[in-house]
Amino acid sequence: MRIEKTTVSKLKNTDFNNLKFGEVFTDHMFVCDYEDGKWNDPRIVPYKAIQIDPSANVFHYGQAVFEGMKAYKDKSGKIWLFRPTENYRRISISSERLAMPVLSENIFLPALNELLSLDKEWVKPGIGNSLYVRPFIFGSQHCIAASPSKKYKFMIILSPVQSYYSSPIRVLVAEKYSRATNGGVGYAKAAGNYGAQFYPTRLAQEEGYDQIIWTDSKNHEFLEEAGTMNIFIRIEDTLITAPTTDTILDGITRKSIIKLAKDNNINVEVRPISINEIVKAHSSGKLKEIFGSGTAVLVSEISGFGYKGKNYDLKSIKNSYSSTLKSILTKIQYNLTTDPYGWRSEVSAVKV
Ligand code: COI
Repeated sequence: MRIEKTTVSKLKNTDFNNLKFGEVFTDHMFVCDYEDGKWNDPRIVPYKAIQIDPSANVFHYGQAVFEGMKAYKDKSGKIWLFRPTENYRRISISSERLAMPVLSENIFLPALNELLSLDKEWVKPGIGNSLYVRPFIFGSQHCIAASPSKKYKFMIILSPVQSYYSSPIRVLVAEKYSRATNGGVGYAKAAGNYGAQFYPTRLAQEEGYDQIIWTDSKNHEFLEEAGTMNIFIRIEDTLITAPTTDTILDGITRKSIIKLAKDNNINVEVRPISINEIVKAHSSGKLKEIFGSGTAVLVSEISGFGYKGKNYDLKSIKNSYSSTLKSILTKIQYNLTTDPYGWRSEVSAVKV
C-alpha cells in the first residue's frame, strides 16, 4: 500500500468540543481503483477533493454503496473497531446487489487498519467520542450508457464525531411513503436508499418530528426501520424487533443488541410487529419503550410517535432496556470490560 503523508495537519485547528456530525474530516483518506477486473493501487493520501468526470455512472445511475463504522480509543490509547468483518460482509452484499465488483477482505481490513493507525490522534478518548469511519464504493467510468460501470473507486474517509442526537427523538409512522419494497434494494446500504428518504423526512420534520418510522410498502402496517436506524419495541418485558428481510438493513448494532439482550435475560422476539399492536399496547399501558439502533446513534431513545394524526407519548423510564443495553455495548466498544463475543478488533498498522 502506498502512503503519502500530509505536510500540513488540520488536527491542531480542530475544535473537538464543537463537532457537528460528519462535517470535519481527518488528514488522510484511502483510495483504490477498480479497472480491467482488478482492484489496483491501494493508497493513503492527504484528504482532498477528487476529480470525477461529469459522465461518471454514480451521477446518473447511482451505483454507490457505503458503510458506517466507528473507531474508539481506550484509556491506554489503543484504538478499536467494532465487528469490522461484519461491515466487510455487508458492503460485499450491497455491492453485489448494485452489480458492483466485490472488494477482497485483504483490501478492506488492511486499509482500515493502516488509515486509522495514521490518523489515530484524531480519535479522542472518553465515552461519546469516536471517529466515524465511512468506507464507500462508486461507479466512476466515463459513460452514460445505462449499464454497470466498468470502473469504480473504493475510498475510506474518517470524521471525528460526538453523539448523533443529543436528546430522545419523536418519529412519524409512514402512511404514504416507503423506504423499500419487496425485491428492491432496502437490505443494501445503497446511497440511494438514504437520498430517497430525505423528502418524506423533511415533510415529517415540518410537522415537528425528527424521523420517520418506515412501514411495509404494501399496507403500511408492519414496522421496518426508524429513519436510518433499526427499530426495537418493548411491550411489557419483551423486546421486539422486525426480522431482517429484503426491505430491512441487517444492522450490526441491531444484531449486537439482540445478542446482548438475550444474554442478559431479556425476552427477545424477532418477528413482524404492526402499528396496530403498538397503538393497542400504548393504550393498555403495556408499551414501555421504543428505540432505534445504528452505528451513528448506537442506541437512540424514541420519546413518542405520530400516527393517523394522533400523537402517542412515551415516558422515560428508569433502568430502561435502551440505557442498559447501550451501556453494556459502550463498555465493550471502549474496552472497559471483557469482550466475550470477540467483537472488538484492535487497530494496528499492517503494511501490505
Ligand atoms: C449509520 O448508522 O452508520 C448510518 O448509516 C447512519 C448514517 C446515514 C448517518
